[in-house]
Amino acid sequence: MSYETILAESSEGIGTLTINRPGALNALNSQVLAELTSAAEAFDADPEVRVIVITGNEKAFAAGADIKEMAEKSYAEVYLADWFAGWDRLTRVRKPIIAAVAGYALGGGCELAMMADFIIAADTAKFGQPEINLGVMPGMGGSQRLTRAIGKAKAMDLCLTGRFIGAEEAERSGLVARVVPADELLAETRKAAAGIAQKSLLATIGVKEAVNAAFETTLSQGLLFERRTFHAAFGTQDQKEGMRAFSEKREAKFTDS
Ligand code: HXC
Repeated sequence: MSYETILAESSEGIGTLTINRPGALNALNSQVLAELTSAAEAFDADPEVRVIVITGNEKAFAAGADIKEMAEKSYAEVYLADWFAGWDRLTRVRKPIIAAVAGYALGGGCELAMMADFIIAADTAKFGQPEINLGVMPGMGGSQRLTRAIGKAKAMDLCLTGRFIGAEEAERSGLVARVVPADELLAETRKAAAGIAQKSLLATIGVKEAVNAAFETTLSQGLLFERRTFHAAFGTQDQKEGMRAFSEKREAKFTDS
């Protein structure tokens, strides 16, 4: 499958999607949405791919939804097309997704990064929800995922003022998992992805489902879901292999069975 606004390649169990509209700071237009979600779904279905990385370039992960594309839309158009709802497809991908962010991750770009399971940021990364400066507000999850990630005070600050935060403040706030030097971003992300790719897919998908359940359920329901998913692991070969390998002081060889 060939794409025009993204690059998709996979090797060693890692599927990498690179947003590729450098002339527009990787602004997310409808074509990026269609291509990125389709490519992520294709990786999800590809047995060779075990973990997905979404990245941009050194200047921008994505500077937001494409302002020029949406500027003249009417209420009826965006409402009837349910503008941005298509991004939900990305959140239904079952394999782990890492966002590797350098430069601007603004508006929809920040929201896209938050749809990943975790974010690794270059020290050059800048996050923000500047929609307020355009007379609108976040529309791809910024008011919801950002609030869950960093709490009300900072989410209100970012969404109401439109200010940008650097990688260090983003890490301190809990938005990003790690900050690395910009020239090591892809290598560090690949290293993290390669580690995840070695694990049992049954376990990595189980982790993803259980952590995400924390955002959708009560604590007692979430704990029960976690415990039942944990119990289910005892029906797998990979649990036997993982625990035997530990006792035998050797590397486990998981088979996703
Ligand atoms: C369309 C964009 C864009 C965007 C940048 N470009 N961001 N085009 N949509 N979101 C284009 C510029 O128009 C310009 O094209 C080129 O990319 C380079 O951008 P510059 O502004 O010249 O770069 P620079 O001076 O370095 O400034 C970088 C920047 C600025 C601070 C990131 O580009 C900026 O403020 N961008 C918009 C950020 C933003 O508001 N994002 C949120 C969008 S709304 P030309 O052709 O002129 O060279 C959103 C959610 C909407 O994401 C949800 C509610 C509906």
